[in-house]
Amino acid sequence: MKRIVTDSTSSELGIGCDLEEKEAIVFASSEKGLKKIKKEARAYEKLGIIGKLTLGQLDDLPFETDAALTMPFQAQFHPVKYLTGLLKEIERLGGKLFDQTRAVKLFKKNDYVEMATGAKLHYDNIVIATHYPFNDFDGLYFAKLSIERSYAIAAKINTKMPEGMYISAESPKRSLRSIRSENGEDLFLIGGESHKTGKSNPPTQMHYENLERFGKEWFELERVPYHWSAQDMTTLDKMPYIGQMTQSTKDVLMATGFNKWGMVIGAFSRLMLTDIILGNDNVYKDLFDPTRNKLKTIDIERFSKKNTAVGKDFVTTKLKRPDKTVDDLKSDEGGLVSVDGKKVGGYRDKQGDVHLVKTTCTHLGCGLKWNDGDRSWDCSSHGSRFSYSGEVLNGPAVKPLKKLDGSNDEK
Ligand SMILES: Cc1cc2nc3c(=O)[nH]c(=O)nc-3n(C[C@H](O)[C@H](O)[C@H](O)COP(=O)(O)OP(=O)(O)OC[C@H]3O[C@@H](n4cnc5c(N)ncnc54)[C@H](O)[C@@H]3O)c2cc1C
Ligand code: FES
Repeated sequence: MKRIVTDSTSSELGIGCDLEEKEAIVFASSEKGLKKIKKEARAYEKLGIIGKLTLGQLDDLPFETDAALTMPFQAQFHPVKYLTGLLKEIERLGGKLFDQTRAVKLFKKNDYVEMATGAKLHYDNIVIATHYPFNDFDGLYFAKLSIERSYAIAAKINTKMPEGMYISAESPKRSLRSIRSENGEDLFLIGGESHKTGKSNPPTQMHYENLERFGKEWFELERVPYHWSAQDMTTLDKMPYIGQMTQSTKDVLMATGFNKWGMVIGAFSRLMLTDIILGNDNVYKDLFDPTRNKLKTIDIERFSKKNTAVGKDFVTTKLKRPDKTVDDLKSDEGGLVSVDGKKVGGYRDKQGDVHLVKTTCTHLGCGLKWNDGDRSWDCSSHGSRFSYSGEVLNGPAVKPLKKLDGSNDEK
């Protein structure tokens, strides 16, 4: 994939994106993990994927490992540098970019999309690549996608940096690799700790602390200059949705459901979508067709289980009564508070200002949960997230939360 997409594109266009060839290694440190990677190795063999199964300790890792599956010739690159290069090329070719412009509604019959500003963008073909499709009612995608957050820290460590890109076979996941920061400092990236969005148990801040503890235990972690979290979707059958969004709209295409592998599959999507728009054949078209309708019993069971959880969350988060008032909120603390007998979401910032919002998700009206790690209001139903002052951080929601000071009331 690297050779087809990122490598050739970056060298053709002269994009400096720190592209390096590296090995990708799945490691196991338990009997269960060992079973998993042996199964994976058998799949590689069947599919003709180049990979090597080794048993025993990996020299590059300081903790005990039982086995590893190594895939050579993989790529590591800086995604923001790569995308910045692509954007420049789009502009050079006459394309227009509109930043900070939220799409809110698709008018399929009239072939235009309405922006939050009220502007209309007309199209011949449109590709919905907004991560969670903002027009998810078309094709009922809110019932076909599940969403998980995961965490990462970039740390200065005092031990030797492992060479490859590592990921554990077992949970809690640990994803390990080296990166170079903007100021040229070599840092070690430790990722993992995923959970369904809006459903973290323990509090979200603990996930960052767990990664830091792991770094201290095994890599003599000195400090953590950067930490962040992100979320990604999985489809019903775990295969991404790339292609025509509904059977009745040929000109509306989508690419989503990358199951945390969207740097690779996102780049691959553009090849497929180009073929579809130009009317070329593509051997993968049916496999990734978003309108495919071949659900296995196991997928249906998984889907029903998730929907039951969504319904339960709707009720429990709505009924929960806050035991705090605004005065109880400490600096940099947020949560549900009682104001005039009503339940609202509050956050006291570091300057002492309090931000109050209505904690009803603007997507389908579910209750929101406070995320103390990232200071946001998160929805466990379909993964929408809002800042402490109510702005949309992640869709499918497109409208902000109602602020209790009335400053964003609709006229
Ligand atoms: C720590 C970490 C490591 C990862 N490692 C890998 C890896 O090794 N390999 C790999 O393949 N993947 C990896 N991933 C996953 C990958 O980053 C994601 O799958 C990918 O970014 C998803 O791409 P996307 O284009 O669908 O969504 P995004 O990257 O989220 O882009 C969607 C864009 O749409 C915009 N948008 C959203 N709503 C609207 C709207 N209504 N109107 C207008 N614009 C909107 C957003 O602002 C955003 O710019 C990693 C992720 C993380 C967090
Ligand atoms: S994301 Fe759908 S109800 Fe909140």
